[in-house]
Amino acid sequence: MSAALSILHPVDQPFASPPTTDTAPAVRDYDYSVTWGDRFLELIKRAVPNEEKRHHALARYARFLSLFPPHYVVPGALEKTLRFHDRSLPIQLGAPILLAAGGNKTAEHLPAFAELGFGGVTAGSATLKAWEGNPFRPRVRLLPLDRAMQNSMGLNNPGIEAIARQVDVSLGRCHRRKMAIGISVTDTPGVTDHDRILVEIEATFRRAYGVADYVELNLSCPNTGTARLDLDTVLMARILDHVMQLRKNLVPRKAVFVKLSPDMGMKTLDAVLQVVSDAGITGLVLFNTFPGDKGKFLRLKTPAAEVEPLTVSGSKGGISGRILYQNTLPAIRFIRSQLPHFTLIASGGIDHGAKVLDLLEAGADAVQAYTVLAYRWNAIRTMNKELLAAMRAKGLTTLDGYAPWKRD
Ligand SMILES: Cc1cc2nc3c(=O)[nH]c(=O)nc-3n(C[C@H](O)[C@H](O)[C@H](O)COP(=O)(O)O)c2cc1C
Repeated sequence: MSAALSILHPVDQPFASPPTTDTAPAVRDYDYSVTWGDRFLELIKRAVPNEEKRHHALARYARFLSLFPPHYVVPGALEKTLRFHDRSLPIQLGAPILLAAGGNKTAEHLPAFAELGFGGVTAGSATLKAWEGNPFRPRVRLLPLDRAMQNSMGLNNPGIEAIARQVDVSLGRCHRRKMAIGISVTDTPGVTDHDRILVEIEATFRRAYGVADYVELNLSCPNTGTARLDLDTVLMARILDHVMQLRKNLVPRKAVFVKLSPDMGMKTLDAVLQVVSDAGITGLVLFNTFPGDKGKFLRLKTPAAEVEPLTVSGSKGGISGRILYQNTLPAIRFIRSQLPHFTLIASGGIDHGAKVLDLLEAGADAVQAYTVLAYRWNAIRTMNKELLAAMRAKGLTTLDGYAPWKRD
């Protein structure tokens, strides 16, 4: 990475923020018309106003669908193989849309998520031991004007052992349904001793690596009340070096991704990408939720006064959903131009199939989505259809190997 990068973008602002360069290609924010299904979803939201309850119902709904044939089969044209510069095992995806971490925190009913249209699921994030998450309620709130979500769950999860066991017993069935399964691994909130963080992440990583197709290191959660690990590049370098040293002795070689935060300005991004590269990591998930306290960069339609704090300390949690796409696409384009050999997964505001194709063209290898499930009925199946239509319009018959950015 070079200091010259900062010429392209203001040093301390994320990509979404003005001013953008005159030459930067526009971000087309495809919209969709509201369907009867979406209206039905609104009724469900009114009947069950508790966001967390509805979230828990998602896996059960997927399971219910999976009980009745005919089962959903992703169109073959959407199949995609993720390949890795460091010769990690390739990952076969039935479709390029994966469920982002947080969408299935327990890893229960994993094979059923194929019924929703996903080509993969990232389970977790997992900490070493079970973790309750933040004690206050509500921890999730919708911002319908922006089709966004505010959350401060605080990494609630049943612990890596429970998650790994679920993945272990269901991986074969997931593969038969053309879904890859990753586990997102993170540090325990509140632990500040660096040696202990290292020991915990090592144990959590090792267990996840043993069972999943890939491991995602979540160093960018904005909702735990403790400092994000990606803000301390020295500690981050220690963790990544340690994990990659460990991986050298593990067979087979599996993909490792680092998930970053979307609020970085050029200088920070530059430093963070350097640390990731130096550690020998070649996979990135871009991005986590956007820290709500920096919400002004997102130019939300929701009036600032209505983006209420989720925590007693005034923190607004992380923001996800449609609004993030303005940041995700240019960031993917830019990071791809810097790191042509990386495997990039885009995440943030992806709520239309045509956006998936634009992201693949900009440099993503696959995408992850979550918040769209709160706004569109049958979201991922519908996005698969939209993606197919966008492909057809361009005369594309397969996504596998499709990487037009390589021509640049
Ligand atoms: C309720 C909720 C919980 C989340 N939990 C996690 C998590 O445990 N680990 C993680 O890496 N990301 C987590 N995320 C972030 C998502 O994985 C994703 O990166 C982010 O929401 C942006 O994608 P989206 O706009 O499609 O939702 C969570 C997001 C939401 C909305």
